[in-house]
Amino acid sequence: MGGAGIPNLTDNAWQYGGQTADIERSISHGRRPVMPALGRALGDTGLGQVVSYVLSLGRPVDAPPESLKAGKELYAVFCASCHGVDGTGTPALGAPDLTDDTWLYGSTAGVIRDVVANGRANEMPAFGETLSPAEIAALTDFVQRFMSNPSR
Ligand code: HEC
Repeated sequence: MGGAGIPNLTDNAWQYGGQTADIERSISHGRRPVMPALGRALGDTGLGQVVSYVLSLGRPVDAPPESLKAGKELYAVFCASCHGVDGTGTPALGAPDLTDDTWLYGSTAGVIRDVVANGRANEMPAFGETLSPAEIAALTDFVQRFMSNPSR
């Protein structure tokens, strides 16, 4: 199922893309996603507004419309370059989809605020030196076919 910051490999949400080449690359070269710390740039009010806006991408939220509007403007300036204009993410950068209900760290306002304010630097280790290309291909096949589709 994955822990905090560690993706669930059995769902269909792929931080770096779920194609064979994407998964092989993740295993062989590793990944180092970086979410920048934006607390200082956004300030307290800005943080609250952008968090409300992010929450509103996936579900109805109880926030004043002017706060959501301000959050949307901040999102366009500070977040869209990585997470996409519509919030669906950029696999090439490992920037996750913020509109679905899959979360690396958690879906509460408190967790999202902490991630945005303080950032996260994560690491998937590289196995290209330890595993042969055939082993990497077999693992990729396993993750793709069996973990994502346990019924097969
Ligand atoms: C430089 C690119 C970049 C920018 C700019 C950026 N992010 Fe991120 N963000 C990332 C990456 C990469 C991750 C994944 C971090 C990881 O895997 O640990 C991430 C993770 C997150 C998460 C955690 C998602 C989850 O599934 O738990 C949230 C929430 C988030 N970003 C919101 C924002 C918001 C809001 C902004 C703007 C204020 C923003 N990000 C700006 C790259 C970026």
